[in-house]
Amino acid sequence: MGRLKLPFRFDHDIFRTRSIGDLIEGSKGEHALKKVLGPFELIMLGVGAIVGTGIFVVTGVAAANYSGPALVVSFAIAGSACALAALCYAEFATVVPIAGSAYTYGYASLGEIWAWIIGWDLILEYSVAIAAVAIGWSGYMVNLLQGAGIQFPASLANPPGVAGGIVNLPAILIIGIITGLLILGIRESARVNNIIVIVKLSMVSLIIYLGISHVNPLNWTPFMPYGWSGVVTGAAIVFFAYIGFDAVSTAAEEVRDPQKSLPIGIIGSLIICTILYIVVSAILTGMVPYLEFRDTSAPVAYALSRIGITWGSSLVSVGAICGITSVILVLLYGQTRIFFAMARDGLLPCTFGTVHPRLRTPVKVTLLVGCATAALASLLPLTAIAELVNIGTLAAFIIVAAGVLAMRRTRPDLERPFRTPLVPWVPVLCIIACFGLILALPTVTHLRFVIWLALGLVIYFSYGVKHARAAGSTLDACDGGREPGTRDPGA
Ligand code: ALA
Repeated sequence: MGRLKLPFRFDHDIFRTRSIGDLIEGSKGEHALKKVLGPFELIMLGVGAIVGTGIFVVTGVAAANYSGPALVVSFAIAGSACALAALCYAEFATVVPIAGSAYTYGYASLGEIWAWIIGWDLILEYSVAIAAVAIGWSGYMVNLLQGAGIQFPASLANPPGVAGGIVNLPAILIIGIITGLLILGIRESARVNNIIVIVKLSMVSLIIYLGISHVNPLNWTPFMPYGWSGVVTGAAIVFFAYIGFDAVSTAAEEVRDPQKSLPIGIIGSLIICTILYIVVSAILTGMVPYLEFRDTSAPVAYALSRIGITWGSSLVSVGAICGITSVILVLLYGQTRIFFAMARDGLLPCTFGTVHPRLRTPVKVTLLVGCATAALASLLPLTAIAELVNIGTLAAFIIVAAGVLAMRRTRPDLERPFRTPLVPWVPVLCIIACFGLILALPTVTHLRFVIWLALGLVIYFSYGVKHARAAGSTLDACDGGREPGTRDPGA
């Protein structure tokens, strides 16, 4: 990695890497998380994070405006980009099995500034995703209540400036409940997640069962009404539906046998969801002429009502509420672990890198993330910036793939319980595919992303470089009120 020449005196090495041994050592001791998760819980966490609003909302938008019946191809393209990334995540997750995911991998392979950039990027990805899906949850809940004859006041279900809204109360409520659950313990959270995921998979299976006999192959022609460019833009949009499998890697530190379980969790959940998505999108576009999805924001409920299933909208509401609840749970969990890892390394205030002595969960950072995302979800109309989630995730995938390439060169000797196959082709193709999908996103999204990164760099140079934990030091000083970077003996 090249050195940056700065026009002023600056003696912090922003490209320094942390050795894997040091990273693992730093995660032990009194601030260690409890190891309770196995491969089944990890697959369920992955499916929990992946299947949510994407399948119930984004499918219609993409089919009507970009992909047409070739929605299945868009899903296959987005799924392939994710599969390439998943293979890279799996290698890192087994080599560096500690919280922090792409952030930690960046620290071990590319250097501190890249780690910061990706950690900051992940904070954006997860916060916006949590807020956006919590708003979706609120919408489905209010609809369901309405269906049951209970009117929820619009002023308490919308942000200021939208439909006479003051605050989005249901969004605050769901984030509050999940924050409480995560504070209670990861074992308890995983159990609740398992139940929710089983309910949501049953709903999706029922939808497939009800729809399959109503498929009319004539609806699949013309197959690509907007050509290949439409299909690729459609892929960039439906990419949202896949987001979440990367959150499995943030659980690394709480897994009993990470070397074996993490690849199963990451790749297994992605395979299950890709199959589900391709089947659902083929059925939806076969049930209804794609142009009809133009006028609806609830494509699955619409398709069911077209075949005479009037209770379809309640079915979809229940499925979506369950789906979104587990998405919030797993993303909130992932966000806390990334923030926790960054704080433990001193790049963010170290008090957020501590674990509660009795609960063995990072209580302070969970409360911080819960409050911040609840504030975002309750006060902002976030739909317009939801595309930021896609760009943030794609950028993380690029850094992880680049990290695999870098680490294979700098540490060829390292024991790799899971090896990304066909290196360099898989990481290189992952980088090209993710970059292509980033280019397919609107320019305004690129601009917002650059502004967020610039803000992050300001924070890094004004706080992170001064407090970054030096190699070999531990977090214990944080409890005594001293900052981590000030006390390393050998720095
Ligand atoms: N993949 C998640 C969803 O579709 C974010 O809601």
